[in-house]
Amino acid sequence: MLVLGIESSCDETACAIVKEGNIILSNIISSQVDIHEKYGGVVPELACRRHIDLILPVIDEALEKANVKLEEIDVIASTQGPGLIGALLIGLTTAKGIALALKKPFIGVNHIEAHLYAAIMSSQEKMSFPCLGVILSGGHTNLVWIKDIGDYEPIGKTIDDAIGEAFDKAAKMLGLPYPGGPEIERIAKQGDPLAYSFKAGQMKEQPLNFSFSGLKTALLYALQKEPQPIDEKTKQNLAASFQRAAFEDVIKKTEIACKHYNVQTILMGGGVTNSRTLRTLFQEKLGQDYTFIWPSEGLSLDNAAMIAGLGYHRYRRNLKGDSLSLEPLTRIPF
Ligand code: KG4
Ligand code: ZN
Repeated sequence: MLVLGIESSCDETACAIVKEGNIILSNIISSQVDIHEKYGGVVPELACRRHIDLILPVIDEALEKANVKLEEIDVIASTQGPGLIGALLIGLTTAKGIALALKKPFIGVNHIEAHLYAAIMSSQEKMSFPCLGVILSGGHTNLVWIKDIGDYEPIGKTIDDAIGEAFDKAAKMLGLPYPGGPEIERIAKQGDPLAYSFKAGQMKEQPLNFSFSGLKTALLYALQKEPQPIDEKTKQNLAASFQRAAFEDVIKKTEIACKHYNVQTILMGGGVTNSRTLRTLFQEKLGQDYTFIWPSEGLSLDNAAMIAGLGYHRYRRNLKGDSLSLEPLTRIPF
């Protein structure tokens, strides 16, 4: 079965062709970083205009790279949400149009669930459930108890900024370009992670929830206390200490969740899991006791292969598509 997946929830216009749910024939991602970077974040109106320009060429490229004709596609899947409303509408409407023209089923996919599916797609092993899902992206920070694919219980989330968003804002304070996560990781390599005693937020009553806004403010105050303009070493120390505090927090809460829910396997997903530093720290701290499943190359950041993969799974399970009147959703409770 060949699934064409479309992703357009934020600032990537992406299309992928996936065979039997995990054989990626093509995975085309057209990033819009160039137009958003001067604003230090995504400008929704600009993102929508760029999606309109790119969506058809990106689909053509994905078909060409996969050496597949549009008529050979069996199912068309697209991100239903969460995301920017205009951006979602472009991908979803295009997918519905193709499905209608080809008389093939259409599936609307939850983007956050797809980030977890990216790890499942990447794994050679057969998955055993229940397990824990950890989603760390620009828009989401979630801990999820996964009883089976499609059967999730949210157990922790951020009460303010998402972790990737906090990295992007921290980078902006340090005068680094957007997206900030990779930039912080790059300069943190030369910095001292213990130079500043930063800590992410803890909620006594909600030990599995996250808060990164206080950490961001702590960075700002520490930065303002330094002689201006700050020198390169100070910048590296601030970046390294910020990164350490954010990752320590995620690792600690993941461990609490694993113990509480008695799971052995952890599925990791979302753009922040692209960080080698994060992967090494998780592996060092928890690798002895738990099995980690990470998204493979090209599947951490937003992509359409994970949308096609989850679309395949959903179609196989229900053997029918979604209604063509399915609406995009900016928020989906998870
Ligand atoms: O999953 P994603 O592509 O988009 C959303 O669904 O939000 O994640 C993008 C986020 C950005 O905030 C980016 O700064 C962050 O992932 N990110 C990183 C790293 N690489 C990407 N954060 C920390 N360290 C990294 N190496
Ligand atoms: Zn994402």
